[in-house]
Amino acid sequence: MINEKVENILNSQINKEFYSAYLYLAMSAFFDEIGLFGFSNWTKVQAKEEMDHGMILFDYIIERDGTVKLEQIDAPQRDFQNPLQVFEKILEHEKFVTDSINCVASMSEDECDLATRHFINWYISEQVEEEANARDVITKLKMFGDEKSSLFHLDQELAKREYKAHSYKN
Ligand code: FEO
Repeated sequence: MINEKVENILNSQINKEFYSAYLYLAMSAFFDEIGLFGFSNWTKVQAKEEMDHGMILFDYIIERDGTVKLEQIDAPQRDFQNPLQVFEKILEHEKFVTDSINCVASMSEDECDLATRHFINWYISEQVEEEANARDVITKLKMFGDEKSSLFHLDQELAKREYKAHSYKN
């Protein structure tokens, strides 16, 4: 059984993960519109990973005999300007998610729920990777500025990203 405070914060985290999927999908649509299909692929793959993050939390609550409470998902931002601005937004958003995950860890510890404290470690590591991935693309985008041939090569690189289903038990 899971206590109410921990159950609530986990449910709130489900909402944030599915919102993240929506945000990445909005970014993917923007990249499709401007013809950067590799960037679109990268953000679409990320959207699928975000849905996995949400579903892992969903399954965990059920496994702990808790109640899944799905809330309304906010509409994501749509007024994107260029790849650098999008990836800066990604980094900012992932930092927000990292803070949120840290709060889940902290609350589960306060509530002596060591199973959730252990479970959330997977997300803590995942956030380190996600922030680093966004920073990596930002660095490259800043390096070559508006140079079109470099943007084309980066687009080809991001086109190679493949979706692999996430599971914290793997
Ligand atoms: Fe599921 Fe991008 O955090």
